[in-house]
Amino acid sequence: MTDMRTAEGSAPVQGPLWGARPRDWAAQEERHHSIYDNIWPLVDVPAGGSVLDVGCGAGTFCRLAAAQGYQVTGIDAAASLIDLAGELVPDGEFHVGDLQFLPFADDHFDCVTAFNSVQFAADPGAALAEIKRVARPAAPVVIVVWGRPEHSELTAIVTGLAPLLPPPPPGVGGPAALAEEHVLDTLIERAGLRATASGYLPVPLDYPDQEAFLLANLSTGVAAVAIRTSGEDAVRDAILRAAAPFRTASGGYRIEAESRYVIASA
Ligand SMILES: C[S@@+](CC[C@H](N)C(=O)[O-])C[C@H]1O[C@@H](n2cnc3c(N)ncnc32)[C@H](O)[C@@H]1O
Repeated sequence: MTDMRTAEGSAPVQGPLWGARPRDWAAQEERHHSIYDNIWPLVDVPAGGSVLDVGCGAGTFCRLAAAQGYQVTGIDAAASLIDLAGELVPDGEFHVGDLQFLPFADDHFDCVTAFNSVQFAADPGAALAEIKRVARPAAPVVIVVWGRPEHSELTAIVTGLAPLLPPPPPGVGGPAALAEEHVLDTLIERAGLRATASGYLPVPLDYPDQEAFLLANLSTGVAAVAIRTSGEDAVRDAILRAAAPFRTASGGYRIEAESRYVIASA
């Protein structure tokens, strides 16, 4: 029997979760600049070429690529984030949609990027095959996912939220579903992509005060599920309890997270 979640994609579920607090998520996305700044210089894209960012969120990476003269297209499940991306990158083209069903022709883009989005697809392997389909032959493809749970202090926060979440439906991976090296590498190879570089990247996340930290962490997809299930007060308390070890002397927070990246050739 066909699994309807896989056949339809996860966008109808994920979009409202990630899009519930769009401005707070956009502020969090700014903290992901170290990921873009470390990985993007490793990617060889022809000057002025076309770049598709799948799961583009509020458009923070798209803004960076557009500022360098690339023609930018973004797609995301969250309509509210796509609205912000359009404001942030007026020259970009933005779509609400599912990364597993990309509304673009075959062999279309000079580069395709996916920063922390493929792990949320109903079928990440199918999403990678879609990415390969719309990339020009031999075009660079960048896939970034969360790093190893034991190397990321974000794990403490996700673990702290676990009692406030409903049990996941069978077959649905969590945010760290693709973190282990062999899982992503195997899916990439099966999608017909050829990995040319890969590694783990430390991702420091800094928050000046408790309110900024809370707003950022209440705006994630997993927090949105916890809020629906258990209410915002319980989620705030759980986040603050889990993050207590990461409080700085000045009353802010610093989380040492990790990303895994693979640069591949389509
Ligand atoms: C962790 S955020 C990453 C956002 C941004 N790329 C970044 O670098 O921070 C995950 C993003 O993937 C999007 N997403 C999740 N599932 C999706 C799907 N099935 N199709 C399209 N976008 C999806 C979410 O709406 C959200 O914007």
